[in-house]
Amino acid sequence: MILERNNFPNVKQITRELNRSGLKNQLKNFKELTTIYQLRHAGANEIGTKLENLDDEYSINYDHNPIHHMEERMKSVNSLLNKLRRKGYPITIDSIKENIHDIAGIRVVTNYIEDIYRVEDALVCQSDVTLLKRKDYIKSPKPSGYRSLHIVVSVPVFQSNGVFDVPVEVQIRTIGMDMWASLEHKLRYKTDVPPDKVTKHTASLQKYAAELYDIESRMQEIFKDLS
Ligand code: GTP
Ligand code: MG
Repeated sequence: MILERNNFPNVKQITRELNRSGLKNQLKNFKELTTIYQLRHAGANEIGTKLENLDDEYSINYDHNPIHHMEERMKSVNSLLNKLRRKGYPITIDSIKENIHDIAGIRVVTNYIEDIYRVEDALVCQSDVTLLKRKDYIKSPKPSGYRSLHIVVSVPVFQSNGVFDVPVEVQIRTIGMDMWASLEHKLRYKTDVPPDKVTKHTASLQKYAAELYDIESRMQEIFKDLS
């Protein structure tokens, strides 16, 4: 199982993005953003390692890998600023620390639906992991058809100047749900698709999301029957 690791932006990159957004003067102590990014990135690494270890342990003890693969991603400065504006939060370092929990994220793509909850339970029950937020879009899919389990956990990160609890967003979904989300994301954000095409594909994708869920449930039953 592979975890694709990601890097965090340095001061130069952050400065460039803030200049582009025209918000550099508004965000005082903007250099602190690098510290936030570094800390959140360290948190994602801690969680990523925990998940890799869990997957290894599962394959030894149960002869099954719940995780197909994982991707670590850091939110761009641009989408961080957009999120602050969209949600009406103040554009300050303190507000970012307090309100934005998904600067560092890990997407966990599992083999089967039950693996999603297996991975969640095994992660959240660890004594240094705290569950801060949970949205189950599998039990309650989005109107689009989107399915995924979103949790925000916090994990202690040991730095030279102390220990800090760091939030990390973990999105857990199956291969089918992940494939669906990639295609739907493309449809949603591609600006040059004619409106009638968007309507047609949106309706099809909504239907396919339910069909994929049905197929993944049935394939899981076969897998369990063979185990
Ligand atoms: P943002 O992180 O700012 O988007 O808001 P949020 O954290 O309040 O919302 P949410 O829990 O819905 O998670 C948002 C993330 O889930 C998005 O960044 C997408 O990656 C994913 N997502 C949510 N809904 C959809 C959807 O309908 N289609 C696709 N493809 N992805 C979705
Ligand atoms: Mg988010």
